[in-house]
Amino acid sequence: MATKAGSSDNVGERFNGEYAVEINGLQKSFGPFHVHQGINLKVRKGTITYIMGGSGVGKSVLLKQIMGFIRPDAGKVIVNGESIHEASMRDTKRIRHSMGVLFQNGALFDSLSVYDNVSFTLKEQLHLPKSELDARVKSLLESVGLTFEHSKKMPAQLSGGQRKRIALARAIAMKPSIMMYDEPTTGLDPLTTDMVTKLIRETNDQYNLTSIVISHDTNVALDVAEELAFLKDGIVQYVGEPKGVFSDQNPDVREFFASGRKRLKL
Ligand SMILES: Nc1ncnc2c1ncn2[C@@H]1O[C@H](COP(=O)(O)OP(=O)(O)OP(=O)(O)O)[C@@H](O)[C@H]1O
Ligand SMILES: [Mg+2]
Repeated sequence: MATKAGSSDNVGERFNGEYAVEINGLQKSFGPFHVHQGINLKVRKGTITYIMGGSGVGKSVLLKQIMGFIRPDAGKVIVNGESIHEASMRDTKRIRHSMGVLFQNGALFDSLSVYDNVSFTLKEQLHLPKSELDARVKSLLESVGLTFEHSKKMPAQLSGGQRKRIALARAIAMKPSIMMYDEPTTGLDPLTTDMVTKLIRETNDQYNLTSIVISHDTNVALDVAEELAFLKDGIVQYVGEPKGVFSDQNPDVREFFASGRKRLKL
């Protein structure tokens, strides 16, 4: 196993030495199935980290553990310096509010308009006057490349890419410091994939976020990730800069990314 945390120097000046998320010795079983067998991972503040691996390897479960929705059997998840599974219920909620998430099936509420989708958490958490809520919705829609005109539409009237944008606007409404995406580009056509990927990059920079993207799309990850972690057999098999996967001593790592290498002509 080649663990190269900290070896990446293309992460840029945005990394200030702090970690947004630290995962230490995480273990999780469902019955006899050991999904996580000691996951260790540090996510640098301000960066875009891709967490990759084959289907069923435990990527979505890991995200739910970072959010504090699934309790690990052993190990810790530290979010902005606080151990989420050891926090009180009240603190867990507060820590959770520092994270925005686009779930795997990125669901919008189909029976609610775009306006009501985007303002959902804002209405629940903050009791803003209508004029201020309108202004927030307008600004959120604009930050994902849409206009206030879209707010009257229903989700069924939108394209797949527009729905992703709206789900993203809803996720960033409460100004999270960490944004997590579970398979944001799976099932999208190449143009929409590019658009969503660009949006992840822009949102990360515009809001000064840390982004964690779960994916099994090696092509996109090799293009966009600043840090890349690869999961297999319950552990992190690789973490470091994307290009390092091709020369890693672990054949599982090289094999998983081989198709991406062909595309990038490396
Ligand atoms: N609540 C649960 N109860 C029992 N087993 C579960 C539960 N959640 C996940 N699992 C199992 O844990 C394993 C990992 O699931 P997970 O959803 O994290 O995979 P994944 O890496 O996200 O896969 P994919 O790429 O297909 O989304 C799977 O075998 C799944 O069936
Ligand atoms: Mg998943």
